Amino acid sequence: PIRACLFDLDGVLVDTAKYHYLAWKRLAGELGFTFTEQDNERLKGVSRMASLDILLEVGGVTLDDETKLALAEKKNGWYVDYISRMDESEILPGALAFLKELKANGILIALGSASKNAMTILNNTQMVPYFDAIIDGTKTASAKPDPEVFLLGAQELNVSPSECVVFEDAEAGVEAAIRAGMRSVGVGSKDTLGRADEVVSSLQEMSVSRLITKFMTH
Ligand code: G6P
Ligand code: MG
Repeated sequence: PIRACLFDLDGVLVDTAKYHYLAWKRLAGELGFTFTEQDNERLKGVSRMASLDILLEVGGVTLDDETKLALAEKKNGWYVDYISRMDESEILPGALAFLKELKANGILIALGSASKNAMTILNNTQMVPYFDAIIDGTKTASAKPDPEVFLLGAQELNVSPSECVVFEDAEAGVEAAIRAGMRSVGVGSKDTLGRADEVVSSLQEMSVSRLITKFMTH
């Protein structure tokens, strides 16, 4: 049976993917190259430093570690500024209703995010009370597609991976779920998330009955 749902944060529960993109694009601009929305797909779910490496690769720029650290901090400064003004209105459609329905049905809820800013976002959007476990970028050593973040979530909830369903908007996140031995629902487009067991365009399409139909019967 499915006993727990593990949620990615950025792009699944909240509309922060756009802020990450804005900040990275701004950094690329300062470095003198353009960074498209298509390039940005590769950054979704990926840790801050790994994201910077991909961005620099796109721009054909090589830099030393010290400079890279400074640039990552610069990007994060802008990002933190964007999210400091967030509120409940930036929770994505269907997310809150689905979290409430899961809770009402006794299904455990965990956060599995690569972000070190996850707590700020959960606090600003008042979502903290929904979670039985919160695993974020401050608690993990390896970033998605490594399964660590989801395995830690299952461990903290005391459930086995086969009892978990992961909700992800990033290819790297779906890969992490697969490596963790968990089922997954891609939130977004089939083009990038085709490896997930199911793809929905938003959590508005999700419900406990759909979850049961899809995952509990086989
Ligand atoms: C999420 C986002 C990524 C981001 C990563 C680290 O997974 O999808 O775009 O780079 O978190 O976020 P942070 O807030 O720690 O820079
Ligand atoms: Mg995401």
